[in-house]
Amino acid sequence: MNKKGFIFDLDGVIVDTAKYHYLAWRKLAESIGVSFTEKENEQLKGVSRIKSLEKILEWGNKTISEDDFMKLMAIKNDDYLTYINKMDEEEILIDVNRVLEYLIQNKQGIALGSASKNARTILKKVNLISDFNAIVDGNDVEKGKPNPEVFLKAAKALEIEPQHCIVFEDSVAGVQAANAANMVSIGIGEQEILHEADYVFKNFTEMENSFLNELIKK
Ligand code: BG6
Ligand code: MG
Repeated sequence: MNKKGFIFDLDGVIVDTAKYHYLAWRKLAESIGVSFTEKENEQLKGVSRIKSLEKILEWGNKTISEDDFMKLMAIKNDDYLTYINKMDEEEILIDVNRVLEYLIQNKQGIALGSASKNARTILKKVNLISDFNAIVDGNDVEKGKPNPEVFLKAAKALEIEPQHCIVFEDSVAGVQAANAANMVSIGIGEQEILHEADYVFKNFTEMENSFLNELIKK
């Protein structure tokens, strides 16, 4: 049977929330005197909230108490949620709907594999939650990307073997996680950044249904 598992990352793949994470982290980093540009931000894509703050503190050579650490995480998330609360279907990235529809029509397994603890909230905001057969997010895993746990759990939930799963990812950590899970990795973004992926597309518009069909038939 040609049933594959298609696992989507959320931030930067389905919706352009990567820009909101960036704005919220930059504001927080600057508030504690750590400089933060798109270059640093790239290293935070796909990385959990805790790990992201640890990295920012490391870059700024800062040590803080556990209490302050928790406070900063809450400040970042509150700020991030002010953007999320304003979201609607308009923010679904280009051609995501066409790809989802094609996979649904062809009775493929569809899962979310995200590091975010806000994933369900976001999927509801953009009205996509019912398209997913399984959702594995930051609340369900112990080890973040590049560890493959999130994708392996998604494959298990879909009841599809990892080698029959395909992952769409915009982050380096996520592509590495997909590769470590022994899945087909498809980078959505820039080739220079995502060169470890099996395939890279700028966005879903570049990915035709015939390519999806080949993945299904493989
Ligand atoms: C990932 C993002 O999807 O989720 C990261 O790429 C983010 O930038 C991580 O830090 C955790 O998200 P959240 O919503 O739980 O803070
Ligand atoms: Mg992402």
